Amino acid sequence: MPSFAVTTAARSYQAVVERGALHRLHEFIPPRTGKLFVVTTDDVWRHHGGALEAGLAGRSFHRIVFPGGEEKKRISQVEAMADEMLANGGDRSSLVIAFGGGIVTDLGGFLAAVFMRGIPVIQIPTTLLAQVDAGVGGKTGANLQGGKNLIGAFHQPLAAIADPNVLASLPEREYLAGLAEVIKSGLIRSEELYKAFQRKDDLYARNAALLDFCIAESVRIKCEVVSEDEKESDLRRILNFGHTVAHAIEAETNYSRFLHGEAVWIGMRVVTDLSRRLAYLPSSEAAHILDTLQTWSGGLRANDLDPDRLIAHMSKDKKTIQGRVNFVLLAGIGDVKIVSGVPAGTVRESLIAEL
Ligand SMILES: NC(=O)c1ccc[n+]([C@@H]2O[C@H](COP(=O)([O-])OP(=O)(O)OC[C@H]3O[C@@H](n4cnc5c(N)ncnc54)[C@H](O)[C@@H]3O)[C@@H](O)[C@H]2O)c1
Ligand SMILES: [Zn+2]
Repeated sequence: MPSFAVTTAARSYQAVVERGALHRLHEFIPPRTGKLFVVTTDDVWRHHGGALEAGLAGRSFHRIVFPGGEEKKRISQVEAMADEMLANGGDRSSLVIAFGGGIVTDLGGFLAAVFMRGIPVIQIPTTLLAQVDAGVGGKTGANLQGGKNLIGAFHQPLAAIADPNVLASLPEREYLAGLAEVIKSGLIRSEELYKAFQRKDDLYARNAALLDFCIAESVRIKCEVVSEDEKESDLRRILNFGHTVAHAIEAETNYSRFLHGEAVWIGMRVVTDLSRRLAYLPSSEAAHILDTLQTWSGGLRANDLDPDRLIAHMSKDKKTIQGRVNFVLLAGIGDVKIVSGVPAGTVRESLIAEL
């Protein structure tokens, strides 16, 4: 199974996509590492704690249970976890293993970034979304009262290990939401990945070979983009395809109605339509892509939301620089353009058409 290198100024590391990789976790722990702290949630531990423990091959560790939930992704939890580490022998030689969905990989990574000014972390993402996105790339963080992910640090892991076996227990809603980030990677960089979405029955049924390909290809793309641009100056922004709109939908619905990936599905429909209206994307290609997006996300509707309120959110997005809303638009499958200063009237038309 594939393994991809991420090379940044801070560190080079492997992102591994491999069925059963959890069982060889011990191979990724450097010699002379001190105490191990596994940050996880109860549900993940119940399903997969045994496999992780087997992978540590008898090494002792302290388990820190995070209660889960976006409302708990707060710096107060990081402080509580750091106190728990200290009380249990944590020091500069310690290692954090973040074992869970994106909330755990973000918060566990942040804990490692700040504990004693920074100790290593191994990321073991267990949702599809986290395997293809949150678990690789080194972005860590927590939410503020005023918004999501507004506090954090770039902290690249020692390794990112995606074991697709753990996805067997993932609830369907989470799985389908995670697929949004997979098709996003296809649309921005890989026609082959986009084509996987034409095999609806197999992908829906989590066919092992197809799913492994989808994860590996998404991770490859993320690693490539992150290696070229760690801190989001330009290229990394293509990973935000559909996200300007998605973030507005999430904010407008108080992060409670849609999962992140669900908002991304809707956001990609809107931005594909926008790409067509602004003549970046030929109509026939837009129709094919919109049809595919509809097939997978047609049940997700947000047409009760006020387009003008969404546009107002977009101009407050943290990725908006100097008031200009940037859109990642499609010029074709695997071909994106970052465009700023898109007329609000056209954005409004696309919102009305595709929400
Ligand atoms: N750092 C980044 O680059 C980045 C990128 C994308 C998203 N994120 C962050 O990721 C978070 C969302 O992550 P998420 O979608 O993984 O949600 P999540 O972490 O809340 O996980 C979803 C639910 O699934 C459970 N779960 C996890 N793995 C499971 C498994 N294998 N079997 C059964 N249940 C399982 C979790 O306990 C949780 O209840 C957001 O906070 C977002 O900001 C970060
Ligand atoms: Zn996303």
